[in-house]
Amino acid sequence: MKIRVLGAGAGGGFPQWNCNCDNCGRYRRGEFNGKARTQSSIAVSSDGRNWLLFNTSPDIRAQQEAFPAIQPKTGIRDTGIKAVLLIDSQIDHTTGMLMLREGKPLEVYCTEMVKQDLTSGFPLFTMLKDYCTINHHPIACDETPFEIPGIDDIRIYAHALKSKAPPYSPHRHDPHDGDNIGVVVEQISTGKKLYYAPGLGEIEPQVMAAMQNVDCLMVDGTFWTDDEMVVRNISHKHAREIGHLPQSGAGGMIDVLNGVPNARKILIHINNTNPILDEDSPERKTLDANGIEVAYDGLEIDL
Ligand code: MLT
Ligand code: MN
Ligand code: ZN
Repeated sequence: MKIRVLGAGAGGGFPQWNCNCDNCGRYRRGEFNGKARTQSSIAVSSDGRNWLLFNTSPDIRAQQEAFPAIQPKTGIRDTGIKAVLLIDSQIDHTTGMLMLREGKPLEVYCTEMVKQDLTSGFPLFTMLKDYCTINHHPIACDETPFEIPGIDDIRIYAHALKSKAPPYSPHRHDPHDGDNIGVVVEQISTGKKLYYAPGLGEIEPQVMAAMQNVDCLMVDGTFWTDDEMVVRNISHKHAREIGHLPQSGAGGMIDVLNGVPNARKILIHINNTNPILDEDSPERKTLDANGIEVAYDGLEIDL
């Protein structure tokens, strides 16, 4: 199974257009040892030709330009993107569908809750009807395995997560199963498995069980500390209240990952304020010492 990180950044990417935080400011001044990152998406394939996109980032055009495998190969209209699976209905995970409106039709896999958001508060599905057909394929959150036509040899299992629906959603403060999901992606012929959960607020038993059972983890790397944006006077929002488990501290993501002995461990969906973006930072050295990697745009994994 081939996994390509299209975008490893959180909402806003890195550097963020209006941000002058320590990371973003130093990056622009050329004083930063670390990579820019576009917004949150990965692609998975078993044959290198037919790809399943997890999330459609607002940066999808740049991501596609950087990755020839999903560019047109034959015919007057063609794409390596055979289907899209949405992890939630957050703006950074869904807005790229607007950039795919010339595709006919679009095969979109998401939960009923995500579909509700995308036909009400952020009516992408409704708008796109006048550009392309959206074939919505519902995802259940009970780990019933399913396959996606055109994506051979790949099986997916989804479960509900405690994270957060988007600020615009009626579910922001009234959570429902399916607002956010985590997925196990398995190559059937090899049995190799990836767990992908870019927005993960709490480690429930089904999450820990999935983590223990896979070869590679790509999990929420948004914030180092719970009050990261508050102490920088950027926002009043804490990591946990917007559905992201911080890395540091007791019960943080580092502690959690240290309880998973056998998988390759990669943080993804990194916010621009997070000190781990700086490859010289003590926080990044702590991750190194714990055997935890930080995803970057263009990272490819052959599982
Ligand atoms: C999140 O991951 O919490 C959101 O994408 C934040 C945002 O929409 O900017
Ligand atoms: Mn996000
Ligand atoms: Zn910033």
